[in-house]
Amino acid sequence: MPAVVIMGKGKSLRGFIDQLDRSGRLRRISGADWDLEIGALTDANAKNNKYALLFDDIKGYPKGFRLLTGALLDAPRVALALGFDSQVNNLQLASLIKNKIKNGESKTGEYSPKYVDSGPIMENKDTGNKIDILKFPAPKWFKNDGGRYIGTADAVITSDPDSGWVNVGTYRIMIKDRNKLAILMEASRHGRNHYQKYIKKGQECPVAISFGHDPGINLFSGNEVPEGISEFDFLGSIRGEPISVIKGPVTGLPIPADSEIAIEGYITEELTDEGPLGEFIGYYGGGKMLNPVIRIEAVYYRNDPIMLGTCAGKPPYDYSYFRCPIRSALIWNSLEATGISGIKGVWCHEEGYSRAFTAVSLRQTYGGQAVMAGHIASQCRPGAVAGRYTVVVDDDIDPSNLNDVVWAMCSRNDPATGIHIINDTMGTPLDPISKHTEGKDLLEFTSSRAVVLAVKPIGSVIRGNFPEVVKADEQTEELVRKRWHHILERETK
Ligand SMILES: Cc1cc2nc3c(=O)[nH]c(=O)nc-3n(C[C@H](O)[C@H](O)[C@H](O)COP(=O)(O)O)c2cc1C
Repeated sequence: MPAVVIMGKGKSLRGFIDQLDRSGRLRRISGADWDLEIGALTDANAKNNKYALLFDDIKGYPKGFRLLTGALLDAPRVALALGFDSQVNNLQLASLIKNKIKNGESKTGEYSPKYVDSGPIMENKDTGNKIDILKFPAPKWFKNDGGRYIGTADAVITSDPDSGWVNVGTYRIMIKDRNKLAILMEASRHGRNHYQKYIKKGQECPVAISFGHDPGINLFSGNEVPEGISEFDFLGSIRGEPISVIKGPVTGLPIPADSEIAIEGYITEELTDEGPLGEFIGYYGGGKMLNPVIRIEAVYYRNDPIMLGTCAGKPPYDYSYFRCPIRSALIWNSLEATGISGIKGVWCHEEGYSRAFTAVSLRQTYGGQAVMAGHIASQCRPGAVAGRYTVVVDDDIDPSNLNDVVWAMCSRNDPATGIHIINDTMGTPLDPISKHTEGKDLLEFTSSRAVVLAVKPIGSVIRGNFPEVVKADEQTEELVRKRWHHILERETK
């Protein structure tokens, strides 16, 4: 993979694809089958060359009805989707996003979506008998999946029936019929809260869903943005520019004007079999479930529409990277908001699918600081969902370097006293070690967390008497670097 600096802003999906193409990161795939082949290729690509894959001529579908996977597989792509011009490392990217979030949070109102009268999404409209969601090449990703999933990298738009606050979430969506879908919205999800409020009032929940759009939207629809803030506003405030939306003719909900494929409809009280689908932890932990039916009232799409898609597996997988810098930034911001001093960095590791292995580095100046940081990072909302291990390290350790974090655990953690277990924290039925019992509700699942204090004892920090790290002195290191560089330089093929 060439080390290419991607310049400029992403914005629309087509603009984003053009930029990936120019940087050498795009591959066009013609003739693949929606039935298993796209899934297998997408997963193998995420574990190997990490291209963005633009599928066309998909078996049984007309040329032009396309699907993009691998959209956000690395730091330059996430930076591009956010409109950053830089080629940055993981921690720099998280820090950049954290600072933007910090400055942007108070300004979300200023960057609310801009309503426009129409947009490319309205090039084609199907209603009534014309509705057929199967006209789009939704993949069956893996053999054990329960069906075809049109919604994997989607943007599900709902609003709070009381306050009108608009939420955008990424929730998986399975095709049930020409005009029927099924959706999984887990506990704590804002879309689920909206849905439950409508149902309590005896109403169906209006919904608009985009299946192909500016990938910047996914960075926040797929991560825990604070309640009451719309992901559209959040993205706008971080980019310093609002996104353009149209008012959905059926529900009045905002739909990105340059979305590629979108529907409007209602999430109903009816429940149906949904799943299984390969899940973010890398298993089929949740299996088949009973989940709400969405009745489609209208389908909109651009000419030659491009769907966004993604699939899970054992990390690294197609969407295991992009949540790392965003979640790291959200947790880092939450830690700073509590006033804990000395936070130097946060990194949510891809090996833990961004949720289960988080490292926080801090400069210790007083006793208890590491415990505060670890517990808050573990339990603030972006850190709490499906978490497992939170490791606190000193500021000489790069939290994004797994080798260094594990070394700190192995050399500075006392297992007897330095691992805090928190019981009864938020759980998920998708966790392969969660206990499933007959009739257990999605909202009942709990699990435990470990906060690992891989830091020097505070007394030794204050007295400056923790044993020195073994390494060459600076002078000799410099001499060796100059004299023996041909031995030390990495060979490139
Ligand atoms: C590719 C992808 C698929 C996801 N699928 C689901 C899902 O099926 N159900 C769910 O509840 N959350 C799912 N999530 C996680 C949510 O998107 C995430 O928790 C997000 O914060 C939800 O938005 P909300 O906080 O506004 O509810 C998925 C995330 C990604 C990136």
